[in-house]
Amino acid sequence: MAAAVSTLYKIEVQDGARPLDLFREWFNDAKEEFGEFHASVMNIATVSKDGTVSNRSVVMKKLTDDGFMFNTTRNSRKHEDIQTHPQVSLCFFWVTTINGQKHTKQVRIEGVAKEMPMEFTRASFRTWSMRTKVRYGFSKQGNEIDWDELKKRHDEYVKHLSDAKEDSIDMPAEVVYYTVIPHRVEYYGSKMDPITIGDRVLFRLSDNVWNFVHIEA
Ligand SMILES: Cc1cc2nc3c(=O)[nH]c(=O)nc-3n(C[C@H](O)[C@H](O)[C@H](O)COP(=O)(O)O)c2cc1C
Repeated sequence: MAAAVSTLYKIEVQDGARPLDLFREWFNDAKEEFGEFHASVMNIATVSKDGTVSNRSVVMKKLTDDGFMFNTTRNSRKHEDIQTHPQVSLCFFWVTTINGQKHTKQVRIEGVAKEMPMEFTRASFRTWSMRTKVRYGFSKQGNEIDWDELKKRHDEYVKHLSDAKEDSIDMPAEVVYYTVIPHRVEYYGSKMDPITIGDRVLFRLSDNVWNFVHIEA
């Protein structure tokens, strides 16, 4: 009879740890391996007024002590959803190499999306690259369009910007930043080659105190 072989992964968490401590650790590993942009891509799921769920990738622009910041436009479906249901769900997925072994990692976050103040948005806009200013300036995210018409609008906008002084470029009114403030953060970890059985650690906020438990994977 063959001997049964199995290994169970363990996510190490210090007593008293806060959920974003572990996030920073995993995110830094991912950044080292893939660079900031790829490590920062997260999935965000929203719910519409009629209960339809949709999700898409966005870039986490900043991790603050409050939560996970991203930006988008007020034309978008996600923005419209958040107006009625600020409750959103985020998901990160990374495969990182630690001591030559691949670790599969997922972080699921449930929280509330809070719009950032206009002064913050304006200050951030001033730091944007020209490419990002073009992208937000000429495009109405989600609008159906004939591609040639869009190209024409794009080229005209690029010309308009290249004629303008950089500090005279107005921020499009549609730009919006949100921070997702978490109340539930769940980590999943496992190893590949040889594959292990995963471990999950769930952080929950209860009476303003974070506590965590392991969950069977
Ligand atoms: C890697 C990647 C990063 C993206 N980052 C953003 C982002 O930061 N903000 C954004 O509004 N859309 C971003 N998008 C586009 C969205 O996935 C989506 O197509 C768009 O926001 C429209 O979504 P909605 O109509 O559901 O609101 C990104 C797409 C990809 C593939």
